[in-house]
Parts: sequence; structure tokens; C-alpha cells
Amino acid sequence: MKRAYLTLLAMTAYMCVAVAEEPATALEFDASKGVAMTVTMPYGKVVGYTAYTNLYYVTNVEDSAYQYLNIFVPDGATQRTPIFMPNYIGGYMAAAARGIDVGDASGRALAEGYVVVIPGARGRNSTVVSNGKTVYTGRAPKGLLDLKAAVRYLRRFDSEIAGDAEKIITDGTSAGGAMSSLLGSTGNNPAYGEYLKAMGAADERDDVFAAVCFCPIIDLDHADMAYEWLYGCTNGVTRTLSDAQTAVSEELAGQFASYVNSLGLKKPDGSVLNADNYLDYIRQLLIASAQEAKDAGADIADTIGFSFSSGMKFAAPVNGGRQPGMMPGKPGDALGGMPGMPGRGMMSPGSSHGEYITDLDMTTYLNYVVTTIALKEPPAFDRQGVAGGKATGENELFGDDGGSSVNFTPYSAGKASGDDKAAVDDDVAELVRILNPMRMLEDKDCTVAANWYIRHGARDRDTAFPVPINLATRLQNMGCNVDFKLPWNRPHSGDYALDELFGWIKSIVETKN
Ligand code: DHB
Repeated sequence: MKRAYLTLLAMTAYMCVAVAEEPATALEFDASKGVAMTVTMPYGKVVGYTAYTNLYYVTNVEDSAYQYLNIFVPDGATQRTPIFMPNYIGGYMAAAARGIDVGDASGRALAEGYVVVIPGARGRNSTVVSNGKTVYTGRAPKGLLDLKAAVRYLRRFDSEIAGDAEKIITDGTSAGGAMSSLLGSTGNNPAYGEYLKAMGAADERDDVFAAVCFCPIIDLDHADMAYEWLYGCTNGVTRTLSDAQTAVSEELAGQFASYVNSLGLKKPDGSVLNADNYLDYIRQLLIASAQEAKDAGADIADTIGFSFSSGMKFAAPVNGGRQPGMMPGKPGDALGGMPGMPGRGMMSPGSSHGEYITDLDMTTYLNYVVTTIALKEPPAFDRQGVAGGKATGENELFGDDGGSSVNFTPYSAGKASGDDKAAVDDDVAELVRILNPMRMLEDKDCTVAANWYIRHGARDRDTAFPVPINLATRLQNMGCNVDFKLPWNRPHSGDYALDELFGWIKSIVETKN
């Protein structure tokens, strides 16, 4: 297996050089080039598959290190087998196409019998040297364009490659989750058409069947206000800010209400979701998350804001409750080792009361989250030049191919320049729009994925809870099939609870849409 993987790497290196010297004039797929391989899952199952690697998905390859995909077809797959398409983008940085990893969702998908397609994509840090000059190849929206080109490639060769290009399930985490959400929300949107044409992408549709989005870092032009609105209660408690940062935090927080009210969202019960009831809605989602974990046997500490009923034990379905003699948690354990926080299984007064969570004090809970990982400084995303802040990855993302980094929100552009009326450059504003699924979902002129699986950990502070909640709610309101949770005790991470994920995938691929 190891040797096979090395062969794969060697082939990758060879192909990169070949294409850099001699760009292809047409997209190609040669079914005879598949390499038979096997992979052994951690539980011993051996999965046989055929690998097709280094397939360039555009003809005008700008960055041969990234603009290709690998296809893995498990034995027994047919033309009707769904395609699982994960990306490995993190931090909006470039990610190369990879092989199957038995430790993540790609291995699981292959073992489940799905065709796995792993595309590479350019990112904010990828560069090539052209005429002696360093050129940044992956500034917004190029990472997304690459993934869309990959989808188009699969449609172009759908009849030659095993797997059903009408059943593509995208998957990603964080910035990769954002990309997955964009693939799901921007199918065939003409806003990307000219770019894709110039790249030499196939002239095909690029909508997908389902999007799996773990902690998507999206809505970048509103994420700063959501962050300060949610976490403002930690300022001066668990979060230390300068006076200038505190002022920025308060100003941004003050912008959230009118933004969220402008969205016109409805909760699943049909009632309005607005600034007045938003915090309560988050509270309900967190209680549901903790209750589900508690019912499955997790010990939910009462020092992090929860109240419990003292009765109703007869109605509790599974809850194992507190087991006498459990050991206190260690640093690194879920809930363990935090100052003032009981560890998993640690006795704490009152926490064995009742099986039902009846309430959550949000201020206590949010401050608890901050004790597990420090918050970002304000503004969390568009920070460059604001209250002494340095450029973030997002400031770089919207920069140009010379490697600049720029402000991309009117608030930060004003603060950074000292002129409140300073505007975001029109070109940058358009890039922000086409990289924001919340904005693109307003476009009628596109095909939105029918199925969505969205997760944002209950103690993930990389973006604020309203960001994924708004996305999930918008999609629900549009009639999409949305499975959304704030999974208990999860930090910023993805591709977890694979039984749950693949159970959901099975349910959508077996449903006749
Ligand atoms: C990621 C995390 C962030 O906090 C962010 O601002 C952008 C991307 C990531 O993990 O991909």
C-alpha cells in the first residue's frame, strides 16, 4: 500500500512538470490509466479500488500543483453510484488533491462503496513564479472556481467515469466547509461563468446534489458583527481588550440587529427569527445539543450555565447519568482540565440533579467557551488596520495576485483609513459577494443543492453561532432538506461522527428526489 501511495506521489510530480511545460488543449480522461489498489480500514476491512490521478480539470492551468483531481472508484461501483467529493481547504489556503485516508471521511466513503473524488484547489497562499515575479494564484474567488471546474469535469466525463455526476456530495471543514456551502449554493450561477470560461473549465453545469459543511467560515461581510454581538458579554470577563478594541467590539455588536432582521428568517415552527429572540433561539439549540449528549450518557456540568429539572427521571430515554466513582477529567479531555470547570465525570455539586436540561445561562456558557479557547480580537475577520489589528487570512483572501491584503467591509475600511465614509473597492465588494453563500442564495438564477448537512461545534469560536444558524435557516426557509446541529462539546473541527454523517448520506441517496 505504501509503495502504491509513493507511486501515486511520483506520478503526481511527473504530471505537474509535464503540464507546466506543455499545457493541455483539451480536457482528458483515459479509463485505461486506472491503477488497481487496496486500502485496509482500521477495523480490518480491505477495500479494493481503482485510482485515476492527476486529472487536470481546466485547460488553462495556472498552478499545476493544485488544479487537478484524483478519482477513486471502489470495486463494484457503477454509473449510478453517488460521488463523495471532499476538499482539504483550511484557512482559505491552497490544498492539493490527495489520496484516500482511512482515518477520515474519504476512507469511510470508499468503504461505504461511494466513488471518491478529491480535487485540489488554489488558495490565498499559493504562488507561481512567472517572468521572475511571484504571482499569487489563489486569491478570491479562485479556490471556489477550481472546485466548480472539478464538478464540471465530472459532468463532462460522466459517461466514462464510474459514479453519478448528478449525485455529487461535497464535503469540507471551516474554509473548506465554506467552499462546500458555496458549491451547494451557487450551482450554475452566471456570476462565475466568465472566470470559468477563461480557465478552460468544461462548459457543463456545476450544481451539486448535497453539501456537507462542517463549521463553515462564511458570511465574511457580516461575521464580525455577529461575533461581537454574541461574545460581547465576555469583554472584560474572560476576554481582555484594549479600550480601542472594546469600542470596536461595541460598535460592531450594535450592527447585528439590523442585519439579522433584514434577513427575514423563520424558525422551523414558522415564527419569525429576529434580533429580539435570536439569543433565546441559540440557547434552545445548545440545550437540545447538550440534552442529546446527556441522553447518550455524557455528563453535562452544571457550572457552565445549565439548569436541570429535579424530576422527570422516569421519562429520560437513555441517559446513563453520573456514574459513581468516575475519574475527574484531564487537560485535553472534553470539559476536563479547564480552570473552574469540572472534568468529564468529575463530581460537581448539583450536576446529578434531574435528567432534563431546563435552562442555559448564555453569559455563563459563552464565558465558559472562552476559557476553552481564547476569542479572536475584534474585528474577528476584517481586522487589518483596525484598533492596531494585523491582516487576517481573510484580508489576504481578498487581496490581489501581487500578494496584497485589503479591507473588505465598509466598517473596517472606514476605521483603517480614518475616514468613516471610505468605501470598499467595487471589485473587492463583488469578490466578497460571490464568496458569500448568504448573498448568493438571494440570486434566483442558480441551482441550489437539495440536501444540506451543517454542523458547528457547541464550543467552536472561530465564527459565531449566528453564522451557520443563518445559513441553515435560510436554506430551511427555501425548502431545502437541512440537517443542522451545534454538536455538543465540539471545538472547531470536522468530519466527526461519521456514523451519523454516512447515515444521513445513505438517507438522501436512497430517497427518490
Ligand atoms: C479557518 C479558521 C478561521 O478561524 C478562519 O477565520 C478562516 C478559516 C479554517 O480553519 O479553515
